Amino acid sequence: MDRYLYGIDFGTTNSALAIFDEEKKEIIDTIIIPSLIYFPSTSIPNQEKYVIGDLAIESYLSDQMEGRFIKSIKQILPRRSFIETRIQNKKYNASDLVALILKELKGKADKIIGYNCTKAVIGRPVFFDDDDTMKDTLAQTRLNKAAQIAGFTDIRFQFEPIGAAFAYEKTIQKKENVLVADLGGGTTDFTYLILDPSKVGSKDRKNDMMATGGIYVGGDSFDSSFMWEKGTPYFGKNTIYEATPGKPLTVPKSLFANICTWDKMNFFNSLRIKKDIQDYYYYSGNDPKFKNLITLIDNNLGYSVFQSIEKTKIALTNNNVADFSYTKMDIDINEEISLSIYNEVVAKDIERISEYLDEFLSIKSINPTDIDSLFLTGGTSMVSAIQNLFKTKFPHLKINSGDNFKSVAKGLAYSGYLFED
Ligand SMILES: Nc1ncnc2c1ncn2[C@@H]1O[C@H](COP(=O)(O)OP(=O)(O)OP(=O)(O)O)[C@@H](O)[C@H]1O
Ligand SMILES: [Mg+2]
Repeated sequence: MDRYLYGIDFGTTNSALAIFDEEKKEIIDTIIIPSLIYFPSTSIPNQEKYVIGDLAIESYLSDQMEGRFIKSIKQILPRRSFIETRIQNKKYNASDLVALILKELKGKADKIIGYNCTKAVIGRPVFFDDDDTMKDTLAQTRLNKAAQIAGFTDIRFQFEPIGAAFAYEKTIQKKENVLVADLGGGTTDFTYLILDPSKVGSKDRKNDMMATGGIYVGGDSFDSSFMWEKGTPYFGKNTIYEATPGKPLTVPKSLFANICTWDKMNFFNSLRIKKDIQDYYYYSGNDPKFKNLITLIDNNLGYSVFQSIEKTKIALTNNNVADFSYTKMDIDINEEISLSIYNEVVAKDIERISEYLDEFLSIKSINPTDIDSLFLTGGTSMVSAIQNLFKTKFPHLKINSGDNFKSVAKGLAYSGYLFED
């Protein structure tokens, strides 16, 4: 038997790896990196050059946002339409890209243990996209392939919220019926299960896992909603143009949906769209807000705008007001956002999670009074509207939390023994 096993949480925003020592039965270290890849535009011939994680952000920003910056790569795993992309004259499919992140994590961990560990329990959301099983299978197949490319040979998959639950189990003293919610950047996952510290190590856990579910809404959705409501007005949403004299029209709102998600932002690279935008600008009488849109697109400012949006969101987890500010080139945004305004902006996303949770409890016949405790994890669990949602739905329960960014990876590692023959 190999001495070590890795628990790997490949996330939309962050990826973590927990090193589990199978002899000592404990985690000896945990590594976390942002799930980001950057390919600089100037490459050395015949040599691929890319950077991962924090360095990817630093290099991309210091290169004035040129080159290819890849974010939220997990979201392309279930997309049939994504076949491959060409970067520096080399083709990359979804697995190739994901493998770069897994390889980075594996490399760092192998260095710590001084050994090439090939065994991993890899997390997966309950649903990668929606309930389409074909897409789901495609996503897991691609993730499996990525793990192989990264050098793993013994690969198991476990639901991410079950990983979170196993981490929580290490902290409790008695048997509990626990509702676990893992609220990440891309998805929100639930599991309802019996946790029992006296059963740690027991193989017979199947009946303890009573229900799992999930929805494709997470922190990225909140940031998109914020961009739509609070960001796009600074980039010309509601601009009037007059291509036919005497017939003023509003620039189509659909144009702005393209700057609200990271992947759609690439769409603007098409020459036709760029020409349309130039036309609207001209016929709007050179509206300065519309000029901001041109500056945003021409200079690839998308990521940095989203960084400001995330900053506002994070500041609002501990404060009742925060600034939404962004100053670059001619763009100058400075607006005070109150927590109540923020809650309105994300209300639809919160509602979707709330409705899904009700449905989950009802379909799985879970009576809230049977739940003994709640365990929330993932970066988005810190959003105050999310905390309020759980407080309102389960006023009789205390909300427990652990390490929001490492719990899943740790629990995946702890759950590894379940796969042993
Ligand atoms: N202090 C905070 N307050 C609110 N949101 C936060 C905070 N810190 C991080 N986030 C958000 O949490 C999300 C990332 O959380 P996490 O690392 O758990 O996701 P992930 O595991 O990468 O995603 P997924 O599990 O959906 O694949 C991002 O949307 C980020 O903006
Ligand atoms: Mg996660």
